[in-house]
Amino acid sequence: MTPPSSLDVARDAYRAISLYAPNREPARIDVSDNTNLWGVPPAAERAVREVGTSTVTRYPSLYAPQLKAALADYLGVEPSMIVTGCGSDDVLDSAIRAFAEPGDRVAVPAPSFAMIPIFARMNGVEPVTVALTGACDVDADAMLATEARIIYLCSPNNPTGNALSRAAVERIVREAPGVVIVDEAYAEFSAAPSAVDFLGAHERLLVSRTMSKAFGLAGLRVGYAAGAPALVAEVEKSRGPYKINALAERAAVAALRDDMAWVRDHVAEAVANRERLSGELRALGLAPVPSEANFVLAPTPRGVALARRMRELGVAVRAFDDLGRDVPAFREAGGQGLRISVGPWAAMAETLAVLQTALGEL
Ligand SMILES: Cc1ncc(COP(=O)(O)O)c(C=O)c1O
Repeated sequence: MTPPSSLDVARDAYRAISLYAPNREPARIDVSDNTNLWGVPPAAERAVREVGTSTVTRYPSLYAPQLKAALADYLGVEPSMIVTGCGSDDVLDSAIRAFAEPGDRVAVPAPSFAMIPIFARMNGVEPVTVALTGACDVDADAMLATEARIIYLCSPNNPTGNALSRAAVERIVREAPGVVIVDEAYAEFSAAPSAVDFLGAHERLLVSRTMSKAFGLAGLRVGYAAGAPALVAEVEKSRGPYKINALAERAAVAALRDDMAWVRDHVAEAVANRERLSGELRALGLAPVPSEANFVLAPTPRGVALARRMRELGVAVRAFDDLGRDVPAFREAGGQGLRISVGPWAAMAETLAVLQTALGEL
């Protein structure tokens, strides 16, 4: 008897999902994934090196209480308002599962974080996309008009890099019929005020963050969200126990308690290099979107071809071909663009030199 094909046994909703598979081949310079190109903060690195075997043989804590306490201090909220996860990916996925029934809708700006429509489908939920406005801001009227069970916002937004306007975010938080998630993975690099400020007044708001970017711990997978205690308790049920491994919890707590000066110094350097990089891109004839994150997006109709050539020359940048022709900023570029992560200036200089070569050839 022939065994059933995987499609015969998979859930219907999974047929529309493909594996997330950006090109992760090693490159001489990798400025493609917005991680911390300065490395790991020192206390976190010590915690990783000094971990004992008893930490590894036993199960970790169920819901990472020490990490919650450190994160609560960092954000200035109560520990009961924090939920952690295996990366903020895990928190976002769990939140969609916690607050939407299969068949419900989640409203997502476009372009925005590519994983959200995937997490929606993984949970049997339908993603409804709403184009960003001319200034790459969120269209509050259109988002609210979806009447979606969950509204997802990302500020600063990936891949555009800009922070969404506070008035639009506040209006959505105030008027949305269901849960609003504000993804602040890049908040540390932004001068814009955080949606954490709205938490006291809004019980259906979840603000997600990560330690993968400013804190340099992407490989350990530590993400979290803040919200009203009753709201985060639902995300925690949906997330399940033991999702922060023992090594990750130790390193993350060490970073939050002892590495804040390192984090702040490198964020300041990233912000300075981001402005310098944006200026150099303009000098090459590109028009980068003003960024509040640790990356810069440059719309260009040759985005995909340029990224391919740059990779041949040893530099990995992230190309997009689906930024949306209905977003005015991307119309002329046919929806294509290059996203470049910000790092130490030596890496930026090499990236710019390789980009200039590729621009000259194509
Ligand atoms: C906007 C946004 N949210 C969430 C994530 C996921 O981060 P984590 O490493 O915490 O899963 C990313 C990663 O690139 C991101 O860009």
